[in-house]
Amino acid sequence: MTLPSAVLQGVGVSVAPNEVTNHMLARVMETNDRWIRERSGIGIRFFVDPGTGSADLGVAAAQRALDDAGIASEDVDYLVCATMTPDHYFPGTGSLIQSRLGLAPLPAVDLRQQCAGFAYGLQMVDALIKSGAARTVLLVGTDVHSSLIPWSERSWEVLYGREEGPLDAEELEWNNRFRHLTVLFGDAAGAMVFQADSEAEGRGILGAALFADGDNMEILYVPGVGSAYRPFVSAEMIERGDAVPSMDGRSVFKLAVTHMPRVTREVLETSGYSLDDLDLLIMHQANLRINEAAQKFLKLPDEKVHNNIQKYGNTTSATLPLAFYEAREAGKAPEGSLVAFTALGAGLHYGSVLMRV
Ligand code: ACO
Repeated sequence: MTLPSAVLQGVGVSVAPNEVTNHMLARVMETNDRWIRERSGIGIRFFVDPGTGSADLGVAAAQRALDDAGIASEDVDYLVCATMTPDHYFPGTGSLIQSRLGLAPLPAVDLRQQCAGFAYGLQMVDALIKSGAARTVLLVGTDVHSSLIPWSERSWEVLYGREEGPLDAEELEWNNRFRHLTVLFGDAAGAMVFQADSEAEGRGILGAALFADGDNMEILYVPGVGSAYRPFVSAEMIERGDAVPSMDGRSVFKLAVTHMPRVTREVLETSGYSLDDLDLLIMHQANLRINEAAQKFLKLPDEKVHNNIQKYGNTTSATLPLAFYEAREAGKAPEGSLVAFTALGAGLHYGSVLMRV
């Protein structure tokens, strides 16, 4: 018996409305355009207005993906949502998206694999469709990183030029403490719709090589806020900055350039393909320098890779669909092309998923 394939039917994206340049960031911390571009490749990113959560961006991307697919929302029978910035501690964002899209009650899950969340979601979509548990699955990756940025109201006003700077020394020092992090992120969502197809052998999601490595948890995590503490959250935790992610950027960088090429090769090999067969590599957009190094290790030409971190920063769960969406618009992912989606993020969680578009 041939199992049904999970075939991609549509893609949609939603990017936050407020463009923030590197020069604007220099109003609220000691940084500059050159440092940010040289170290990360990022030129601009977009932030939401306060009050817009990951569900709002996710709904917009999901609706566009359904429109792109030409699939009515009532046909969706499973929703998978990847986010590390849910609207609320609980419930997850999946049920908010279900409700705001006007979907009838259906199974909805949230995945918490951070920058690898969308890759894990692709494997889950494949398993749901192959097992017969679902026929039409909506996969959403959405993150509002600006909600994690610990700036004061005044810093935000100075950033957008609505109040005159400079900031006082204490505030500048606080903002500088997180500058290696806050320059990297942006807010966006991406979504894909998949349908079961029993006559599409060799198409759809073909395989996955996914891993978790908790031994390296402390190189990228939020030190405070959680059941490891009583109370779960306290004013002291927030004052210490323990509610803000902590990142040993160099260690993340080293592990990313090692694991991302390795898992890309692995998923190709275990699925019966070689690097020569690959038409397009979509990598998580954490740092352009990581992706350039991974591309070099794999000896892939520029036309087989698509990066867009320059325009959006790191949007965590949204990077894979956002980069794929733009690659497809640029003609790099026509029907029939073989695409690998490779990511690494906090956990560590990392891996690669192979798809025939
Ligand atoms: N502007 C100016 N100077 C800065 C900034 C900034 N924004 N940030 C840090 N610096 C300074 C530091 O203070 C330091 O100064 P010093 O030498 O006087 O002490 C110097 O620049 C070098 O700092 P490093 O942190 O060592 O910089 P590095 O070269 O490692 O680059 C970076 C930092 C860009 C973060 C890099 O390590 C990186 O990209 N790592 C991977 C990031 C990543 O993948 N994150 C995971 C995604 S997040 C997720 O999964 C949720």
